[in-house]
Amino acid sequence: MKVLVVGGGGREHAIIRKLKENKGIEKIYCAPGNGGISYDAECVNIKAVDVEGMVSFAKKASIDFAVVTPDDPLVLGMADALEEAGIKAFGPSKLAARIEGSKVFSKNLMKKYGIPTAKYEVFSKAEDAIRYIEAENTYPAVIKADGLALGKGVVIAQNLEEAKAAVHSIMEDKIFGASGNEIVVEEFLTGPEVSVLAFTDSKTVVPMVSSMDHKRALDDDRGLNTGGMGTIAPNPCYTPVHAKEAMDQIFLPTIRAMIAEGCPFKGCLYFGLMITPNGIKVIEYNCRFGDPETQVVLPLLKTDLFTIFQAVRNETLSDLEIEWKDEAAACVVMASGGYPQKYETGYEIEGLDKAGQSSLATVYHAGTKRSDGKIVTSGGRVLGITSTASTLKEALEKSYRAAETIHFEKAHYRKDIGAKAL
Ligand code: AMP
Ligand code: GLY
Repeated sequence: MKVLVVGGGGREHAIIRKLKENKGIEKIYCAPGNGGISYDAECVNIKAVDVEGMVSFAKKASIDFAVVTPDDPLVLGMADALEEAGIKAFGPSKLAARIEGSKVFSKNLMKKYGIPTAKYEVFSKAEDAIRYIEAENTYPAVIKADGLALGKGVVIAQNLEEAKAAVHSIMEDKIFGASGNEIVVEEFLTGPEVSVLAFTDSKTVVPMVSSMDHKRALDDDRGLNTGGMGTIAPNPCYTPVHAKEAMDQIFLPTIRAMIAEGCPFKGCLYFGLMITPNGIKVIEYNCRFGDPETQVVLPLLKTDLFTIFQAVRNETLSDLEIEWKDEAAACVVMASGGYPQKYETGYEIEGLDKAGQSSLATVYHAGTKRSDGKIVTSGGRVLGITSTASTLKEALEKSYRAAETIHFEKAHYRKDIGAKAL
């Protein structure tokens, strides 16, 4: 079996590490991959969004199975294009990926099928949106660009001025391009957030271990929103009672809604949930594995990941028993100083062994490359330092101990990952 993983972040590194446990896989390619991934897979210099390039490489290299991980290629239809070319693929179709690619689609889906979410309205004209926000007169107001916006398309406006500025910059200045042709204005919800990734073959949905992301750049949830500065799993806020409520009111209704809409979802469906005083609600769907959630969830998976990917693709997930380790996992992200705004790259990373690893923890590489025999930084999020242990406290201690031994200029990491969960 030759497997191709599309993408090149910490999430893809975690997936590849797990796939390597399957002895039936003779070779793993990753496109484009990164410096750390290159020790575990053969990296191919094709951009993750290059649908044609990816298909032609997959054919040329006789790929048996492709795993399409990031949002943008999925929204562009890479999974469909691979399947059409005769290459089996894990990942939702272009139509199903709209569940992340269009907030208008996902909000309307939830409304139509009674899936609990924040109350909202959709606008295609800035003045209508502003008139609505003025009339509602409740703050914070939540303003979301319809399309993909590199995780930056959500503004929590504290007053009318901030709301107006957000609407203008998204809809008129088009800071996110066509993603801002429409916006969703929604009610602000409160409560702990939980990430639940789920395998689904469209008919069966199997939630993975829950996790907790830390989106803000600085300790105590201060600073700007990032792609995620660290994660822990399982998320202690999410009890078995919540899990049952979410299954009955959110997970099953969502996959049934997607079938009813003619776009069955096959792949990893990410439920961004909030446990509000009025029950669990969906904050967002993603059509893919979360990052860095994947970096704590997959290390706890006992069942063979490739077997699960095949069952999802072949719609035989109900035949499979998926098992998890009864342990905790923690991931501390080391980022370039300045991230998520301006930052510099190209700094040598010290404290890793020849394979880019540490003896103290697993190091998933997110933004690294190899240069003259060294590993150097090449992105905002650089490394995900991950550990598992019988308790969360121990897992966090292991990851932080490892992080202290890894150095690069201007490295930044949060010191309070998981602190709220202890
Ligand atoms: P998203 O990009 O949709 O994940 O949103 C980013 C973050 O904004 C979420 O993780 C929440 O913390 C916050 N957020 C989004 N929608 C709402 C909402 N309706 N109420 C409160 N917070 C929200
Ligand atoms: N960590 C959130 C995401 O992957 O979108």
